[in-house]
Amino acid sequence: MDKINFTVNGERYSLTGSEVSPSTTLNDFLRNTIGLVGTKAMCHEGGCGVCVVSVAKAHPGTNEKHVLAVNSCLVHILSCHEWDITTIEGVGNRKDGYNELQIRLATFNGTQCGYCTPGWIMNMYSLYQNSEKSLSMHQIERSFAGNICRCTGYRPILDAFKSFATDVDQDTIKIKDLEDLHEMQCANKCTKKCTKEENDWCIIYNNSKNKLLDMQMGPNRWYKAFSLEDVFKVLSKEGTDSYRLVAGNTGKGVFPITSEPRVFIDITSISTLKDSLLDENLVLGAGLSIHEVMAIFQREMKNDNFRYLEHFYRHLELVAHVPVKNIGTIGGNLAMKNANHDFPSDVFLLFETVNAIVTIVDRNLKQSELNLQKFLTTALKDKLILNVKIPPISTNFLLRTYKIMPRAQNAHAIVNAGFYFTLDADEKVTSSTIVYGSISPNYTHARTAENFLKGHHLFNEQTLQKALELLNEDIKPKEFSPEPAPTCRKAIALGLFYKAILSLHPSANTRYKSGGAELARPVSHGTQTYDTDKSLWPLNQPVPKMEALTQCSGEALYVGDTISTPRDVHVAFVLSSICLGEIVEIDPSEALKTLGVVGFFSAKDIPGYNTFTPKDVPFMDCEEEILASKRISFYGHPIGVVAAVTRNLALKAAKLVKISYKKDSAKPVLSIKDALAAPDKDKRIREDVTIKATDRGTDTTHVIKGNYYVPDQYHFTMETQSCTTSPTRRGVCVRSANQWMDLIQVAVSKSLNLPLNSVDVEVPRLGGGYGGKASRASLIACACALVTFKLNRKASLVMPLTDNMEAIGKRQAAYFEYEMGINNDGLVQYADIVYYSDSGCSVNDNLGSYIADALSRLYNKKRWNIKGYSVHTDKPSNTWCRAPATCEGIALAEHLMERIANATKKDPIDVRILNIAAENSPILEMIDTFKIDSKYEVRRKDIEKFNSENAWKKKGLQVSMMSFPIEYAGNFPVTISVYHADGTILISHGGIEMGQGINTKVAQVCAYTLKVPLSIVTVKGSDTFTSPNSMATNGSITSESVAFATIKACTELLARLEPVKVDLKNPTWQEIVKAAYNKGINLQISATTSEQDKLTAYSIYGVCIAEVELDVLTGNHLLTRVDLVEDTGRSISPEIDVGQIEGAFVMGLGLWTSERLIYDSSGRLLTNRTWTYKPPGACDIPVDFRVSFKRNSLNNNGVLRSKATGEPALVLAVVVTHALHEAIAEARKEYGHNDTEWVHVDTPYCMENIIKAISPNIGSYHLK
Ligand SMILES: Cc1cc2nc3c(=O)[nH]c(=O)nc-3n(C[C@H](O)[C@H](O)[C@H](O)COP(=O)(O)OP(=O)(O)OC[C@H]3O[C@@H](n4cnc5c(N)ncnc54)[C@H](O)[C@@H]3O)c2cc1C
Ligand code: FES
Ligand code: FES
Repeated sequence: MDKINFTVNGERYSLTGSEVSPSTTLNDFLRNTIGLVGTKAMCHEGGCGVCVVSVAKAHPGTNEKHVLAVNSCLVHILSCHEWDITTIEGVGNRKDGYNELQIRLATFNGTQCGYCTPGWIMNMYSLYQNSEKSLSMHQIERSFAGNICRCTGYRPILDAFKSFATDVDQDTIKIKDLEDLHEMQCANKCTKKCTKEENDWCIIYNNSKNKLLDMQMGPNRWYKAFSLEDVFKVLSKEGTDSYRLVAGNTGKGVFPITSEPRVFIDITSISTLKDSLLDENLVLGAGLSIHEVMAIFQREMKNDNFRYLEHFYRHLELVAHVPVKNIGTIGGNLAMKNANHDFPSDVFLLFETVNAIVTIVDRNLKQSELNLQKFLTTALKDKLILNVKIPPISTNFLLRTYKIMPRAQNAHAIVNAGFYFTLDADEKVTSSTIVYGSISPNYTHARTAENFLKGHHLFNEQTLQKALELLNEDIKPKEFSPEPAPTCRKAIALGLFYKAILSLHPSANTRYKSGGAELARPVSHGTQTYDTDKSLWPLNQPVPKMEALTQCSGEALYVGDTISTPRDVHVAFVLSSICLGEIVEIDPSEALKTLGVVGFFSAKDIPGYNTFTPKDVPFMDCEEEILASKRISFYGHPIGVVAAVTRNLALKAAKLVKISYKKDSAKPVLSIKDALAAPDKDKRIREDVTIKATDRGTDTTHVIKGNYYVPDQYHFTMETQSCTTSPTRRGVCVRSANQWMDLIQVAVSKSLNLPLNSVDVEVPRLGGGYGGKASRASLIACACALVTFKLNRKASLVMPLTDNMEAIGKRQAAYFEYEMGINNDGLVQYADIVYYSDSGCSVNDNLGSYIADALSRLYNKKRWNIKGYSVHTDKPSNTWCRAPATCEGIALAEHLMERIANATKKDPIDVRILNIAAENSPILEMIDTFKIDSKYEVRRKDIEKFNSENAWKKKGLQVSMMSFPIEYAGNFPVTISVYHADGTILISHGGIEMGQGINTKVAQVCAYTLKVPLSIVTVKGSDTFTSPNSMATNGSITSESVAFATIKACTELLARLEPVKVDLKNPTWQEIVKAAYNKGINLQISATTSEQDKLTAYSIYGVCIAEVELDVLTGNHLLTRVDLVEDTGRSISPEIDVGQIEGAFVMGLGLWTSERLIYDSSGRLLTNRTWTYKPPGACDIPVDFRVSFKRNSLNNNGVLRSKATGEPALVLAVVVTHALHEAIAEARKEYGHNDTEWVHVDTPYCMENIIKAISPNIGSYHLK
């Protein structure tokens, strides 16, 4: 029987097909078979980067060695033949020593929840290994497009890695040389000695005879081919009814595979497909990876005939990301385009721009050459793409290609375009090619414009106008929801043609010329300014997170990182495939017939109360069902759970459960606006708050009316909702990724009819929470516990991203309508504000009156009438999401100030100052200092000048401010144990560590209060035995609440120890502890913060200025600089607080710019995966990000004079919309829009909404 061989961290593995299935990825093998759980999993489609590992493999033709980062979730395990794989465990660990990369990322505070961290390390590790020790900051910064981090805001991670660059600025980043990486501790247990000469890797063993490998995987078969003949031999033996060629296997990241083919043929070792040669054409083997092709382009662009490859290289930089480009081939990409014409392939676009030729080979090894148009209509069944020939282009070529994306990197094109013209000596066009992608499946060439241009002067005004006119007629984009609307794509396509002409034109009007350039993003940098008082250390000391190194080494374990035993089961939800209706029948028989499926359970199997939101717990207004008993209230409503021996099997079986429904005739109501217009409007709306103005001015000179929308947002935790449950002697142990242990304990006990003392809840740590794992995690825990209860087996439920996005509620969108009277100075005379908050299908976690409180906080509210409603929509019950209510309310208040400034033509800062309430006077001093520090006035003038000199690039510089309310609620217990033999201290508390650094802060507070070194204090995960009845970790208050309980406990402990000290002379801590132990003094102590402590509420002030540059012709923008000052009081842990501020701001950036939840009319979420939902990436953050803490700030109300930092900075991120609004308004002038009123821009300020607001027209496009 044939086998494949590979190594993992130096250990050898051999596999036959029978040990795996068609869906077993390298990630599955690492995590589930050999238990290397340091490598994480989330999206399973190459879109998040948590699964990246490093691979050393030889080129099939040259045998040259390469080290590559790959997404282990994309690679099939049988593709790993002769690979040498290094995982995070092999890079460095506690036992063998951590390597410099891990240490540096930890010391730069580049981790928060840590779930993304191993992926970042592995990408950097591979990059270094392959870099020949010479990486620039730019190269490093651009190489992490495939790694998402929701917590940190990227700046510290980039700084840590850029500190390895050869061109790093020695003053800003404390550097070690790249050579230091040679000191990396290689944990590989390989037999071969690693040497520098051999690039520090463990060489793989090549025992293959290059003979076709044939492996049976149950009913499926896997072949590994070494020649074209092998492929066709397999095809003639197996037939062509059901097969797939496997090159990089990254295609499944774009088009998920729903049913596996019978036959797989691995073609990665066919050396012919890896050939490249330069004859007359440049011939590129179809099996070359995109990165290999880029390397060839880089080499060949020096050749006069291939200078144009410089453009292709730059375009390919924007394709996918490093790990995908490392293995994804051009042949695979073209085959995907061949099968799916609507795939916006950049590879196809580039090749078509220069009229490349594809060679296809058939079973007789006959080669046919096809142009790409012919290729598109040629069926590839029983054929192989052999190579692509791209032609030389001699001098006088004019070529430009573009890719417009919803975020800076790792996104498919909204529109891509290629323009290629040749001119004669008179500058008349002799040939012209205009190629577009993403217009409609079969539209690639703008033929009429191409034909027209021939014989015309390219740089002539009339030619431009006519060509634009023809393009305008020719381009008819198809509706492709959730892709941006046809009008947007058309406007971008036209703008790109004009951009190309401007960029090629030797002497266009100087006001227009900059429109020809693309936005150039320099390497980003940031400053973090805060005071620290050494006399207080370890309090107020900038320290790295205490878990940072274990996160950087993959040793930090999360709920889903459990290694299954054969009796364990994996659980998957069965979700409704309708939005509204009733369940008529559930038929799980097909699923249960599947080998390995152990059970199916629905509502009727729940022994106790079918609710995960029992009213015994505070804030629960309505009891939501765990599994729908009859009524379906939203698309993706959980109906049942399937238990199976593997996760993949459970997920597949869940799809086999047949549900018949009685569908409602009413259309789903999916937005606040729809709810307000719905026939059953009255039932959908609940009044939450009415606040009446106590004053009304009489000097109204302007009346401002309008509406404003704060979008919804997916939490995008890198660890999806996860839980494992196991039977115990008393009941059940629930190990769950949640922010609210108490809720889970009550809900599980009620649903299983168990007393609470039989339900143990443990939380090791969270891979991100942001509110999404508060009440919602209870659903997952109850469902998983049900399976354990019914089967008496350990069960594990880790939700796939798509299920998580469809079934779980999100940030509640808010819609405001307002009317305001102001005087000539901008002082509010009256304001009538009505808001509606989208609760989804239940009122749980609703924002009720909190929005009203937040929106009327900073400014004088005496004249504000506010009415707030919650609105029922047919979506999952929405929930708290980082800065709930404050984000929405403060955004509206800031929007109103922008409108006042616009109406009165006053400076937006002055208008704000005029309206700030007297009790918020502390912010005034902050504003004054901040204006000076950020050089506001000078920069305003610079921007005005820039905007007058550039028609198609516009800048904006605007401000946002906040008074963020902090109020304490709930109980937070802390238990501290001190160990007599060495005096070390262990803490467990009722807060949940989810990246916000609560454990580090608590340890600092404990060490400070007890006056012991920080190094002897550590904190363990939370559980309901030591910390019963804890409130949810929410609202930024938990760190402080737990810190307060810690102080109480420590103070009492000190009191207990006091008598012991009397008999000792200048005792050390260890001596005191030992003496106390000998006297039988209890060295464990607990304390709780509760409302009894009467901690006083306070405000957090913040001011932020953002500067943006807008590329008017495409709607693209660059956030060039952000200055943010926040009042942190006297920070307990300044570096942790910097991380919270930066991370929160960048999450807010996503809300306001790139993240979109789009539903179809049936209620199905269309943006439910990484391909369609885009949180910010590393190159979306401010290019220059300056964070500072208010100087000399002491909070008289907060704990140890500090202030909370977890959420407030998110609120300030609305500033980016203010700056963009200014740029949009400037852009509109260029199109002749003579605005006298405020320009309404839909939120978020994504490209589609920006283009809609600019409302471009081709009549404004000129050359002179
Ligand atoms: C996260 C992510 C982002 C991406 N972003 C972009 C982007 O911005 N722009 C873009 O253009 N693409 C993008 N892609 C697509 C990516 O470029 C392709 O997935 C990749 O090039 C496919 O190559 P592969 O070797 O992995 O193909 P595979 O996945 O191995 O194969 C894909 C298909 O091609 C067939 N096939 C493979 N090789 C051949 C051959 N030689 N002859 C005939 N058929 C063959 C296979 O049978 C299969 O049906 C992205 C992909 C991912 C996962
Ligand atoms: S799990 Fe592999 S990229 Fe997301
Ligand atoms: S630290 Fe990166 S996602 Fe949490």
